[in-house]
Amino acid sequence: MSDPYSNLAAQNQSTQAQIADAMEARCLEPAQIEIRRAYLSGLSLHAGAFAVEFGSGTGHVTRDLVSMAGAARALGIEPSPVMVARAQSHFSGDPRLSFETGDAKRTELRDASVDLVLMHTLLCHVPEPQEAVTEAFRVLKPGGTLVICDGDYDTATAQISDFDPLDQIIRFMINQNVTNLWIMRQITEMLTGAGFALGSRQGHGYVAEGEAAYFMTVIERGADRMVETGLLFPETADALKQEARRRVEADKFFGFMSYVSQIAIKPNNL
Ligand SMILES: C[S@@+](CC[C@H](N)C(=O)[O-])C[C@H]1O[C@@H](n2cnc3c(N)ncnc32)[C@H](O)[C@@H]1O
Repeated sequence: MSDPYSNLAAQNQSTQAQIADAMEARCLEPAQIEIRRAYLSGLSLHAGAFAVEFGSGTGHVTRDLVSMAGAARALGIEPSPVMVARAQSHFSGDPRLSFETGDAKRTELRDASVDLVLMHTLLCHVPEPQEAVTEAFRVLKPGGTLVICDGDYDTATAQISDFDPLDQIIRFMINQNVTNLWIMRQITEMLTGAGFALGSRQGHGYVAEGEAAYFMTVIERGADRMVETGLLFPETADALKQEARRRVEADKFFGFMSYVSQIAIKPNNL
């Protein structure tokens, strides 16, 4: 199966809603919020700055562009109408935020009209990701900033000992739901090739805490998908979900993944 996030608008409504729920759970986890704060709060935007998130999902990360990065206003661009409707319903009361459907490779933004472009866990889902990077370059003002943060997916794990069966679900979900596992290991060449100057790069370790809400969505969706593909019988999938829930209840669950953020600047002379 191809990565459903790469063409979410083509998925049925219930798949889009299920993915929106999972994205929401991830956005709201304190450990995930701290990752975004770590790379956004150090940006020094000028007063009145306009920021755009490409691939804005349910809108929480677009809101961070105002609350953490200090943008005066922020726009989220996202192909899935279900995601855009969620973002609008969450943030309709904030005049600094707006959301619209669109494609990161072909936005309707004017040349050199944006101070900051953010792609948070977008590029790993985009076939031909350099087209989105080139589009960011086009819309950024000279001196403008592109920030990319994505998972380093080969590090994702729920393994707590040798031959742990839960870890197979994580590996399966990464295989099914990510187009390019290696995007953050390949990103520098893509950025310099588009004309950007490289800024700081940071690694961010994410350890699931408390109810492990996001990892639970990965395990539940993964186990269901294993049934759909004929890999597991439903009873086995139920048992694996139960194992994950029991680990959380017993404070034995472990879920981890590294994220990497990279800042890039459009040179002033372009
Ligand atoms: C993993 S979600 C991340 C959403 C949000 N950035 C967050 O962190 O909550 C990836 C999002 O990118 C969107 N997406 C995929 N391909 C896209 C494209 N070509 N242009 C813009 N968005 C895209 C998907 O629809 C999905 O909502």
